Amino acid sequence: MVKEVLVAGNLKANSVDARSWFIEFEKHMDIQSFGSKGIVLVCPSFVELHDWQEAKSGSLLALGAQDISAFPPGEHTGDVSGEMLKPFEISYVIIGHSERRALLGETDQLVSQKIAQAFAAGLTPIVCVGETAEQREEGQTQKTLEEQLKNSLQGLRADQLSHVIVAYEPRWAIGTGKSATKEDAQDAAAFIKEAAGVPKVLYGGSVKPENVAMFIAQPHIDGVLVGGASKTGDVFGQLAHNAFSVG
Ligand code: PGA
Repeated sequence: MVKEVLVAGNLKANSVDARSWFIEFEKHMDIQSFGSKGIVLVCPSFVELHDWQEAKSGSLLALGAQDISAFPPGEHTGDVSGEMLKPFEISYVIIGHSERRALLGETDQLVSQKIAQAFAAGLTPIVCVGETAEQREEGQTQKTLEEQLKNSLQGLRADQLSHVIVAYEPRWAIGTGKSATKEDAQDAAAFIKEAAGVPKVLYGGSVKPENVAMFIAQPHIDGVLVGGASKTGDVFGQLAHNAFSVG
């Protein structure tokens, strides 16, 4: 079976002008007609979702959020509930990104609550897991992934698990310019599918136009989650083009 490649951009807390981004992106790929090749997804900040929704109108680009509240709508200051995200026509939400885990103390327990809220809002969760440099050096990569997966995906039914996408993002590879090797990324993806019973795994961590094809060519890697290289439409367009050229 030919895999449907997902090329996802995480704009993080960067303000990106959606219209200029689109113009640049389209230099590399026709946004109306790439559909048969896979999915291109952009996850802007909450406050720019509306601009992206307007700019993308009629195109095949998918939109997602970078986070979701762990709670239903209500008294949760500063949170954005799944219900509030619905009008933006988004389809995905990134959950448990390592920056949130490391800088904001987000736990697997919270991640699991957020996954439940994503499903309640009809969104596909992209759940991030990954080891630190130290854990890798100590030979603890699989153990770390196994624990994160077990605790983050606890209580999900088989039909829900079949809609979870896991992003394998080794922490030492994020924003460092130092990506995992294709062998390590492939091994981790295969392990995650086996351990968690999820059908799709993305690789993330210093993915660029120059190395994306190498990851996409791995049988267990179904796509990429991209930070820095998604900030301009020019670079991301080149990256998506290269990803979809793997045949
Ligand atoms: P990077 O970030 O591509 O800049 O390494 C990846 C991510 O944080 O998802």
